Amino acid sequence: MRNPKVETVRGVNDVLPPTYRLQKQIENQLSSCFQSFGYRPIDVPVIEYTELFLRKSGEELISRMYDFTYHNRRLCLRPELTASVARAYIQTTLQGEPLPVRLYYSGPVFRYEKPQRGRYRQFTQMGVEAIGAAGSMADAEMIALACQSLDKLGLKDYRVVLGNISLLNQFLRTMPLERRLGNFLLSQMEELRKVRRAALEAAIEEICPPDNLVETSRLQHLLQGLSEEEAKATILELLENTNVNLVGNRQKMDIANSLMGKIQRAEQKPLWLKALDFMEQLAQLQGKPQEVLPSARQLLASYHMDSGGLGELEEILAILPSYNIDSTRIRLDFGLSRGLQYYTGTIFEIHHETLGQERQLCGGGRYDDLVKTLGGNNDIPASGFSFGIERIRLAMESEGILPVVEESTVDALIVPLSAAEHCYSIEVGEKLRSKGLRVVLEVRGKNLSTSLKYAAKQTIPFVIVVGEAERLANVVVVKNMATRQQQQLPLEEAVMVMRRENDE
Ligand code: HAM
Repeated sequence: MRNPKVETVRGVNDVLPPTYRLQKQIENQLSSCFQSFGYRPIDVPVIEYTELFLRKSGEELISRMYDFTYHNRRLCLRPELTASVARAYIQTTLQGEPLPVRLYYSGPVFRYEKPQRGRYRQFTQMGVEAIGAAGSMADAEMIALACQSLDKLGLKDYRVVLGNISLLNQFLRTMPLERRLGNFLLSQMEELRKVRRAALEAAIEEICPPDNLVETSRLQHLLQGLSEEEAKATILELLENTNVNLVGNRQKMDIANSLMGKIQRAEQKPLWLKALDFMEQLAQLQGKPQEVLPSARQLLASYHMDSGGLGELEEILAILPSYNIDSTRIRLDFGLSRGLQYYTGTIFEIHHETLGQERQLCGGGRYDDLVKTLGGNNDIPASGFSFGIERIRLAMESEGILPVVEESTVDALIVPLSAAEHCYSIEVGEKLRSKGLRVVLEVRGKNLSTSLKYAAKQTIPFVIVVGEAERLANVVVVKNMATRQQQQLPLEEAVMVMRRENDE
């Protein structure tokens, strides 16, 4: 009876040789594009301290991390590479290099997702990060490099969605929202289009439950117009004047802090309702740049907001034609938020209709605070993007442009006719390898006819037969599997024949 099989973990794939070769070919083409823009390769570990991603990646990503404790250390399998590259920049000599530091990478990342075609729990990201460059020129370089990379691969049916998260960030920053609530709202920008607003409001009520409303509304009324410090001092004074028997200052301070918390929570609801209104209006702004930009400008003016983010988008749109980027591919979407919390400015995604399904091939943007958040210098702006390599392969497949991979990776099979020729056949193999040929040896003791069938099945173009006569005369028999012709030759000549006939 056979032992039970051990299978792959759900959502991860074995990559077999033809697909492996295809993906490497795609990665090589992307590397040469990245290098042509001055990016240098870097490799970072697959395993990191979970803390690296807790600081700024956002709930959405954190909830999908492979996160575990090992020997009292909280570790994870990286869910992306941007935070790792920023960490490596801060931790190594890269930090001393002149800015910007342009890096590219490729490797596996892990996310606990619901698996389906094109969505895996282990997948390959390949991307770039430019650390130390702010502004529209740097942002435009990112978008142009991503598009040119896809153009080089021959992809045609992709579209670029451009947004700017600074508008929402700026709006939320003007409100004294609890940090957790602000982050939640940021993460819900894209959800707004998918779920009903009432459902979202119910979710927020759960995060931020209203306290005893009668008590807090009285206090609120009393403390209206005071700063946080003044309000706290007033509460302390009130406590001093009550007849409640309190022991020491500490206890009074705790009560004051708790009351302040209640008031702040009670004050949150009108704020987050206002934020949801703004987010709903932002989310409606999507389409062709010339149509969307005037409405966006109007919206910001109605909220008396600075339109810096829009100016950046306009600059980027003006730069992109110089990179020969087809402007009909570009749409603006002010509801784009990317689900990662570290973005601070321009963000973008590249989508493709892959096998009847809209898929994101690439995502990226500006993240000016991440280096600081991870303990680096204060003022290091950065931006980058990542492709999902498996999705690029699927997109190429659906456009019918996957390169044909060479079937055989072997030039010749050497067949010793008896055990007496084993050593000679190995020497022949070594000499052929030293000439740059890819050679396999028949090691299972199979006879010539079985070996020929094997070579035909494996599409190996030449079979080299060595029997006693060849060993004694220091020659080999070369058989061309396509023409079925064979000749006995010294090894040097056999190499020339194989090269010549291979080229024909
Ligand atoms: P991301 O959008 O989360 O961005 O992922 C980048 C790409 O990885 C996506 O566009 C998609 O092609 C691919 N991808 C994501 N999830 C899956 C999955 N489950 N299965 C297959 N492919 C997937 C980032 O990770 C950022 N670090 C990008 C970035 C770089 N931002 C700045 N620099």
